[in-house]
This record gives sequence, structure tokens and C-alpha cells, in this order.
Amino acid sequence: MAERTLIIVKPDAVQRHLAGRIIERFESKGLKLVAAKLMQISEELARRHYAAHKDKPFFERAVKFMASSPSLVMIWQADGIVDIVRKMIGSTFGYEAQPGTIRGDFGCSQRYNLIHGSDSPESARNEIKMFFTPDEIVDYDLADAGWLYSTRIGPKK
Ligand code: PPS
Repeated sequence: MAERTLIIVKPDAVQRHLAGRIIERFESKGLKLVAAKLMQISEELARRHYAAHKDKPFFERAVKFMASSPSLVMIWQADGIVDIVRKMIGSTFGYEAQPGTIRGDFGCSQRYNLIHGSDSPESARNEIKMFFTPDEIVDYDLADAGWLYSTRIGPKK
């Protein structure tokens, strides 16, 4: 199975009406959406999501922020997707992220950063289990997969 990543369009991005434009970027890149739901993340779930950062000074603030308003939580799929999406998201905060990245183009905050993407395939597997049940994930064939992923032999010259 191709690699998957968990994406969270965070409360600031949903409130700022940016969800559609963020999805559009992943669609244009040729990535495959296999699950999506709008959800109010609880503080308990946010604590589990940020468990690796529980000793960092920003932990409580990050938990409160994630539970402050609904998020759009999604799974996207493609070979190498974790790395592809991390590059598209950009560095941690918009004020320092490169133009052309999601954080670089849509924000300049030093507190809110619009989007989460898993940082490794292993994290992705754990995060996907935290946010989705298997029956919420819908795999299917993309009609243009051969053209997107170079698995198709082109027309004869
Ligand atoms: S670190 O500290 O190097 O592990 O940080 P980083 O990999 O950039 O980020 C890990 C997650 O912590 C969030 N983060 C913060 N949230 C709030 N305030 C501050 N100062 C802060 N610094 C890092 C960052 O957004 C990452 O979470 P996700 O959900 O992946 O965006």
C-alpha cells in the first residue's frame, strides 16, 4: 500500500476559510484523499497528539489551541507522501516559512500555524489510528494515476 499521512487543517485555518485552498494544493499535486472529517478535537485527544512534546514549554498552549474550534482532519496517500507534504507545508511558523509553502503563503503568526502533517511514516501510522477507524478510510483507484506517477507507458510516437 502507498504511504499515508495525517493532515490536520487546524482551527485557525478553518476559521480563516482556508480549508478549500489547502485541499486544492494537495489535489493539484496529485495526492489522493482517502479520508476526511470535520471534528472538534478534545483536549484529551490533543494531549495524546502532542504527547511527544509534553515537556516543551508550548505544550499546554498547543493543546488549548487545537481544542479551541473545529479542525478538518484528513488522510492523504501517495508514495513518499510524508516528505512531499512536509515540504509543501513549510517550516513551523508562517513568519519564517518560505513563500510557496502553505505556512509561508497563508500566515505570519508566531503562535498559530494552520496545518499539521505527520513527520514520519511511523508517526503517520500512529496518528491515523488516533483519529480514524479503519472503516472511515476509503481507498480507490485514481483514474489518472498512470499519468501522475509515471506507471503508464505513453502514447506511441
Ligand atoms: S520541535 O520543538 O522541534 O519538535 O518543533 P517542531 O517539529 O517544529 O514542531 C513540533 C510540533 O509542535 C508545534 N509547535 C508549537 N506549537 C505552539 N507553540 C510553539 N511555540 C510551537 N513550537 C512547535 C508544531 O506546530 C508541531 O506541531 P504540528 O501539529 O505538527 O504543527
